[in-house]
This record gives sequence, C-alpha cells and structure tokens, in this order.
Amino acid sequence: MSATDHHRAYRGDFVETPSPGKLDIFEDYRLVVNQQGFIISFKRATTDTRKDVTWDSETVIPRGSFVLPTFCDIHLHAPQYLYQGNGLDLPLMQWLDTYALKAEEQLDSDKTLARRVYRKLGQRLVKNGTGAVLLFGTIGEETNMILAEEMRDVGIRAFVGKLSMDISSQPTYMEASTQESLASAKSFISRCRALDNNRGLVVPVLTPRFVPTCSNELLEGLGKLSKEESVQVQSHLAEAHDEIDWVRRERGMEDIDIFDKYNLLTPRTVQAHCTFLSPTDLSRIHERGTSIAHCPLSNVYFSAEPFRLREAIDRGVKVGLGTDIAGGYSADIMNAMRQAVVVSRMRQGRETMEQAKSAAVKKNLAIDWKESLYLATRGGSISLGLNSGVFKAGAPFDAQMIGICDPETSGGIGALELFGYSKMNEEMIEKWWCNGDDRNRKSVWVQGKSVWGERGNV
Ligand code: GUN
Ligand code: FE
Repeated sequence: MSATDHHRAYRGDFVETPSPGKLDIFEDYRLVVNQQGFIISFKRATTDTRKDVTWDSETVIPRGSFVLPTFCDIHLHAPQYLYQGNGLDLPLMQWLDTYALKAEEQLDSDKTLARRVYRKLGQRLVKNGTGAVLLFGTIGEETNMILAEEMRDVGIRAFVGKLSMDISSQPTYMEASTQESLASAKSFISRCRALDNNRGLVVPVLTPRFVPTCSNELLEGLGKLSKEESVQVQSHLAEAHDEIDWVRRERGMEDIDIFDKYNLLTPRTVQAHCTFLSPTDLSRIHERGTSIAHCPLSNVYFSAEPFRLREAIDRGVKVGLGTDIAGGYSADIMNAMRQAVVVSRMRQGRETMEQAKSAAVKKNLAIDWKESLYLATRGGSISLGLNSGVFKAGAPFDAQMIGICDPETSGGIGALELFGYSKMNEEMIEKWWCNGDDRNRKSVWVQGKSVWGERGNV
C-alpha cells in the first residue's frame, strides 16, 4: 500500500442476494474499500483483519440498519422524465406519436430544459437507491452529451444510449440518413468515453430504438459497430401487440429474427420487455447470452401479455428490472420489484385454475420477493456486464444503507411499524421490501464514493 492510499472501513450488517432466491445476511461484518472504490476485504468484524488489511477510518452502520448493493435500473427513457406520471391512456404505437417522440424532440431543441430534466432525474435515481442505470436518450448528439455530463456529475454509474432512428412516424424527429445515423452513433461513442476519461462510470451504448424506427441497413451497421468498438447495445424486443403486428406487416419477419440476423442478439445486448417471446425464444436468448430488462408496470399498460419471467429465470437468462420511465410512471426500482412479484402471482393464479381442470404437470410461475431483490441488484448488474451486486473483494463498492429500526426509540423508520426488534433477519428485510421507501435510505455509494445521504443533495 502506498502512503497516499486511503482505505475506508464499514462495520455492521450486510445483506445480498447472490443468486435467485438466496438471501445472505452477514451480521457484524467489516468491509474495507480502497481509494479506487473497490472492496479489498469483507470479513467477520471480530476477525482481526488488520493483519492483512488496514484502514484509516471506520463508519459504523447503526443497529437496525443494513448495507445492501445498490439497485440497477436497466431500462429508462431519460427525456421522458419530462412527462413522468402523465399520458398513459393510449396503446404503445399511438402513445409514442402523441407523447414520447414529442417530449424527446422538445429536449433536443431546448438544452436548458434538457439539463434541468436530466439533473433532476439523476438526483432522483440516487435518492431511490439506483446506483447503475441503462438509459435511452434522444437522437440529438449534444443532448446526449448533456445527459452523460449530468449523470457523471451526480456520480451514478450510467450507460447512455444515443438513439438511432432513420425511420420515424414524426418526420421532424429522425436522423437525416442511415449514414448520418451511423456516423453520429460512432461520434457519440468516442465523445462519451472521453467525457468520462475512460473511467468506465459513464459508458456509451448503441441504441436502435426498436425495429419500426430502424432500417435493415442501420441495424446491420450498428451490429458491426458494436463488435468493432466493443460497445453494448440496447433496444426493445417483442414488446406490445400493436408493435409486433406492425413489424410483421411491414417487415414480414419477427423482431427476434431481425435482431439476430444483424448480430444484435449478443452477450453485449440488453433487450427490454420481450413479453411476446415464447419459451423456445427465451432459450434462444439464453444461447445468445443476451440480457432482458423486465419492466412489469409498463407491460401492464402496453403489452397485453405478461413477460414469462419464471421461464426466463429457470432457463438461466440474464434478467434485470427496468422502470421504463415514462411508459412506467415510477422511477423507483422498489416498485418494479413489487410489481414483478404481483404480475407473476397473477400468472400463477391463472395457471392454478387451469391445472385444476387437467392432470397437467404442476408448474410454478410465481417469483418471490427474494428473487425480485436478486433481479434488482445482482441480476441487473450481471445484465450490464458489471462485477457489482455482491460484497466480495474485487467488486466495486456500490451500496446503499437501509434503516429499518430507529436505535433510539426501537420503533420502525418511515412507513415501517415494528413492535420489537432483536436483530437483522429475513422478516425485517421482507417488511422493508413490502413497505419501505426513500425514508429508509440513509446513504448511497457508487464506486466507493458517497453520492447521496451524507451530502443530502435532493
Ligand atoms: N418502443 C419504442 N420506443 C419506446 C419507448 O419510448 N417506450 C416504450 N415503452 N417502448 C418503446
Ligand atoms: Fe422502453
């Protein structure tokens, strides 16, 4: 260790979900973070780790609180934050024309407004415990630079997607040609990487919006660019009834076959929704190593079909959660976790009724709260190609401190009612999962740096 290195320790209870359904509670552990924000030691606090690792300062997590990995939101339309909570009265294709594209065009033409919207969004996300976010931006290169700057300044881990669109229902909101679209995508990659000094906290992502807004030439070019530049890709796949009808009619193919044909189903890809994929399609997604952003709230409004979440998890598909602002109205991944469970239980309910009528093999289509916590943390992290979401040496310290019980009064914090507290256990965490909110969040760190809480910046 060099004399200038500063190591910070955190001592208390830690909680993680390393695989679907597994919840680990580490009571009285000490986690040591180096100056670069990586965990260098995670051991029982009573073990004398000073022999191997030293630290300069120690933060004690109060009794009744625990440290959890931050949430990952792997599908969010940043410009649509402008009208979050409005306009959910239309089917997807009409909703895009009526609200989404107009809001995006407005931000591309008003940089001051774009900066205000993006700053508020970044601050809201860290307040909600989101430490990593995969964003759809707009088509405008400069507006996406503003988005990247604002996310960098908030300190969140951000994957920024400048949209690629050479077809549009809105003639004023599309790129001038396929070639210009590809050139702009390429230019944004290098500018965004430079903005972050290649630290890897703010990362560019290729973003063909969805099949209806991209020519085959554009998709082909983006598939090649992703490989050449080792850059991640995001899009929407098999999302809504009116969208899949459109693609069949206009392109004579299925979404999944088009993306596959142009090398856009790879381990670098995150596809949102996938509600209309069959179990066989999900096996293909698994073979390709592609990740899925599950956005349960938006699916209820637009998709007409629930996502086959249980089938995807059981096949080993990489899955995380997305808020899909503003197709979903909540920027809080805690809500997405609850909605994922609720939707899966309705699927299970229908299955139970069907099973009662036949001798078919019993299937379980529900997921439980612990599985949803996995999706929100480690599942999202894996989908983004990150090493976070668990506490282990070598992982970045992306974490949030959650307070459940007030140590002074022994009462619950925020909306939580407690009639006694002995220690951090599964029951306490489940209570928080059901009824907790941002009043329970005391601190948020990304890459070892405090981004919310102690600074109190919202
Ligand atoms: N498909 C193409 N664009 C969009 C969008 O902005 N939101 C959602 N939910 N789906 C889309
Ligand atoms: Fe979306």
